Amino acid sequence: MIDPFGRRISYLRVSVTDRCDLRCVYCMAEDMTFLPKREVLTLEELDRLCGTFIGLGVEKIRLTGGEPLVRKNVLQLFRSLGAWIGAKGENGGLKELTVTTNGTQLAGMAEDLYAAGVRRINVSLDTLDPAAFRAATRWGDIEKVLDGIFAAKAAGLAIKINAVALKGVNEGEYDRMLAWCGEHGFDLCLIETMPMGDISSDRTDQYLPLSLVRSRLREHWTLEETDYRTGGPARYYTVKETGRRIGFITPMTHNFCESCNRVRLTCTGTLYMCLGQEDSADFRPLLRDPAVDDAALRAAVEAAIARKPKGHDFIIDRRHNRPSVGRHMSVTGG
Ligand code: GTP
Ligand code: 5AD
Ligand code: SF4
Repeated sequence: MIDPFGRRISYLRVSVTDRCDLRCVYCMAEDMTFLPKREVLTLEELDRLCGTFIGLGVEKIRLTGGEPLVRKNVLQLFRSLGAWIGAKGENGGLKELTVTTNGTQLAGMAEDLYAAGVRRINVSLDTLDPAAFRAATRWGDIEKVLDGIFAAKAAGLAIKINAVALKGVNEGEYDRMLAWCGEHGFDLCLIETMPMGDISSDRTDQYLPLSLVRSRLREHWTLEETDYRTGGPARYYTVKETGRRIGFITPMTHNFCESCNRVRLTCTGTLYMCLGQEDSADFRPLLRDPAVDDAALRAAVEAAIARKPKGHDFIIDRRHNRPSVGRHMSVTGG
């Protein structure tokens, strides 16, 4: 699938639930209203739609949320999608099946994820300090997450730690996190906070440009440029002292839309062609209409890709404190 700007779409991010057991301050308001179950696609519907995308050339699928691992029976979806890994269909199968998780359920699920074909996971962890973690997630217990991370490591999964850079929350911690990741063999990815959804606090107070963070890190670490890529938006450096990598995701200071290869499916079957734009295509009515066969579904996906916009228009609006995009990150899973 090639979009109107010549970009090949090979990466599908699927938010399997809008629910989460945490409430990260930059992601959700404290009292969120979640979707009623009837609006959410079944695992079978999600599987069918993912199969359509794979048939059209998607090679990498990442399950996200909310928190994907709180969805009931989600391992069933991992297993059925895992069967596409290495498959030799018309357009080839999947090269990678992966997940972005907050880690709270990992301890009990890591081995099953590996068995389903997952080899690499991203775990969101914004701080290593238990009190700061509790504050950043509103009630999270860091021990549960750390247990999950080490269970995942023991199960053979490669791990990348995702930390959203937040002024006044984890600003002083990146050196420590880089050292900790180096010690345990994890990569680290820092992310600029993006203005999505109302979060009941002021984002302008939280925003920290990563250009600044990178130069501060360079005072203590040797960051060597590398062309390592995952198909995601991060730009990576090798940290000479640890041998691990650090990535920077900089939608605000350095736009990467030009090389975008991805679209996002929500748990209700809405496809967002860009994280930072409102335009979407609704697949739920098609999935639930017996008259719509696989060929019609394929055609609808192709028509949606033909509408993919050039990029996002995120701005941190200092005067009005309005999010650039009204929906929360948890709707599209980042
Ligand atoms: P890798 O496969 O490891 O590269 O993962 P990834 O970066 O694609 O996925 P992850 O779920 O770890 O996302 C990390 C951050 O990148 C999240 O905050 C996402 O919102 C952000 N991100 C991913 N894709 C895009 C994108 O197309 N645009 C913007 N603005 N942010 C993105
Ligand atoms: N800006 C940037 N990243 C965010 N995430 C959640 N909300 C935001 C935001 N407003 C991150 C999570 C997770 C990833 C999928 O998205 O921390 O690592
Ligand atoms: Fe939950 Fe992830 Fe949002 Fe935190 S960032 S509230 S863990 S969905």
